[in-house]
Amino acid sequence: MKVTVVGSGFVGQTTAMRLVEDGLAEVCLIDIIEDKPQGIALDLKEASPIEGFEPAIVGTNDYADTAGSDVVVITAGFPRQPGMSRMDLLGKNAAIMRDVVGNIASGSPGAILIVVTNPLDEMTFLAAEASGFPKERVMGMAGVLDSARLRYFIAEELGASPSAVEAITLGSHGDSMVALPRHATVNGKPLPELVDAATLDRLFQRTRDGGAEIVALLKSGSAYYAPSAAIVAMVRAIVTDSKAVLPVCAWATGQYGIADVYVGLPARLGGKGVEEIVELDLNDDELAQLREAAEGIRAKCEDLATL
Ligand SMILES: NC(=O)c1ccc[n+]([C@@H]2O[C@H](COP(=O)([O-])OP(=O)(O)OC[C@H]3O[C@@H](n4cnc5c(N)ncnc54)[C@H](O)[C@@H]3O)[C@@H](O)[C@H]2O)c1
Repeated sequence: MKVTVVGSGFVGQTTAMRLVEDGLAEVCLIDIIEDKPQGIALDLKEASPIEGFEPAIVGTNDYADTAGSDVVVITAGFPRQPGMSRMDLLGKNAAIMRDVVGNIASGSPGAILIVVTNPLDEMTFLAAEASGFPKERVMGMAGVLDSARLRYFIAEELGASPSAVEAITLGSHGDSMVALPRHATVNGKPLPELVDAATLDRLFQRTRDGGAEIVALLKSGSAYYAPSAAIVAMVRAIVTDSKAVLPVCAWATGQYGIADVYVGLPARLGGKGVEEIVELDLNDDELAQLREAAEGIRAKCEDLATL
């Protein structure tokens, strides 16, 4: 399997590191900055004798080297700075996304695209449009990250191990994230039985603001350790054809009463990409929130045509 990572900034390089250390695939790391991906690849290869992994990584500025990729992770683009919303990145990153996808699609026509660049939902739609790929082969990473943040915050609140916490978020990567308290558990116990409603609201709001909290602390740039872990979870499901169900930004075709829009949904991932949108049991309020998130994304995607 060959996985290309486009953009060798913080998210791209940590993703490349996790992929090559895990031995999941041959990795091609590409960036427009001359020599940067080559330097990162060499540095990683020099870690291989110590860490004991195969040094299967190439750094390049030439899209010819990405040809024949099975999976392409797109992290190219500007990150947020303190005070910025993800939507402030729309114009600048739309131009980058069109350029990247145009270059990738010709050399890797059978690839599965995982979009990471923000604003995530809109950039995923744009990548699908610009590539012309079937929608099941284009998806975005947000839900795995948002769910991991929520799981960590619940674990911290209750003094539990993060691995004992299950939780899933759907909807958009931003203010319209949909948290599902009825689907969250700690050591198998339903979360709403363990904390009061005010605590639930506080944990969900901290998750919605999770990216901004890190941006404010870093002062420059945005999160990358948890995002790269989330990307690699998606790549792993695809390259191992595991059929794992993960929350991803996927193309809805009528599920939950939503159609023809990219939005965060539980999806079964395998060698063909998004192989099924899984329909969880949602109540009326949860459904309404999910549909509202989808309509917000649809409206923003219409704005993309004018950029
Ligand atoms: N979906 C998510 O949950 C999530 C999480 C974290 C970051 N992000 C987003 O990921 C993106 C990258 O974040 P980062 O922290 O790695 O930023 P960064 O600034 O560290 O890296 C971005 C890299 O993209 C490269 N680049 C720019 N234009 C390019 C092009 N046309 N072709 C190839 N490479 C190009 C830059 O040279 C730079 O090396 C941002 O848009 C950020 O908002 C999304």
